[in-house]
Amino acid sequence: MDIQAIIPELLAVAAEARDKAYVPYSHYPVGAAVLFASGKIYRGCNVENASYGLTNCAERTAVFNGIAAGEREILAVAITVKGNNAGSPCGACRQVIREFGPQALVISAAENGEYFTRTLTELLPDSFGPEFLAGS
Ligand code: THU
Repeated sequence: MDIQAIIPELLAVAAEARDKAYVPYSHYPVGAAVLFASGKIYRGCNVENASYGLTNCAERTAVFNGIAAGEREILAVAITVKGNNAGSPCGACRQVIREFGPQALVISAAENGEYFTRTLTELLPDSFGPEFLAGS
């Protein structure tokens, strides 16, 4: 699959999801779009809670959305925020992406559409994954 060619669509879906973010505490909306091996794209936004620690990041919302639909292999994750500082997935989200997309491409975009890309391996080197549990 030509992921580079799909980046504009991923960013558009992530921006739509960002507009649905529930962020009454941080006022920092984040949108994510995850491309799975099926070719389908799933979206997510951050969902905060009055008990702050229960907040779910946009990336995990989008990954779980796809997994709940039966997807298992992540090819790419796009993230977009408001303003000029493109975000990057937090440590917890990197580990969750890793479970289903150890080779995934992560696209981090600012509101104006400018973005940079990293591989999941760059973001989370020497990572722990399901294969470590095999045969234990
Ligand atoms: N957040 C995300 O949704 N994704 C990230 O990559 C970083 C942080 C959310 C969590 C919280 O709702 C807000 O941004 C501020 O931390």
